[in-house]
Amino acid sequence: MSFHRITLKINGSTEMVDVPSNMTLLMMLREKLALTGTKNGCYAGECGACTVMLNGEPVNSCMVLAVECDGAEVLTVEGLSHEGKLDPIQEALIKEGGVQCGFCTPGVLISAHALLNRLPEPSEADIREALVGNLCRCTGYVRIVKAVKEAASQRVPVA
Ligand code: FES
Ligand code: FES
Repeated sequence: MSFHRITLKINGSTEMVDVPSNMTLLMMLREKLALTGTKNGCYAGECGACTVMLNGEPVNSCMVLAVECDGAEVLTVEGLSHEGKLDPIQEALIKEGGVQCGFCTPGVLISAHALLNRLPEPSEADIREALVGNLCRCTGYVRIVKAVKEAASQRVPVA
């Protein structure tokens, strides 16, 4: 097995990591950097629990090799809060009861973050489409969708 040294920016910090050639971005985050907020649900690109932002786009980190991320920028759920203050999407998910077991939550948060970056005033259909790759076994999605709407309304300046 060959190892590679890669340098990337994660949640605003530059990290240098030695990774085996077959290590995924998901496993690098969890095992090399102790960023265990990103979850391993299926390890097959099906559940979305491992979603992170890679160069500004949401990806299933179990489907990306760490070596492909040399020079990249990654945002994980740990990077959403700032100075101890939760992101509005995190606040809204808590308020609306969109978190039960919490296993899907990091991936949901990142997908919602990506959506609101791209589309600050999404319709319910836009929200459901953005979250189509994030499987949740607990909530039935209604409260999650409501929370994303709530977060979007907070981000829109009041005229
Ligand atoms: S763990 Fe990556 S999609 Fe399920
Ligand atoms: S809250 Fe349990 S899987 Fe979504």
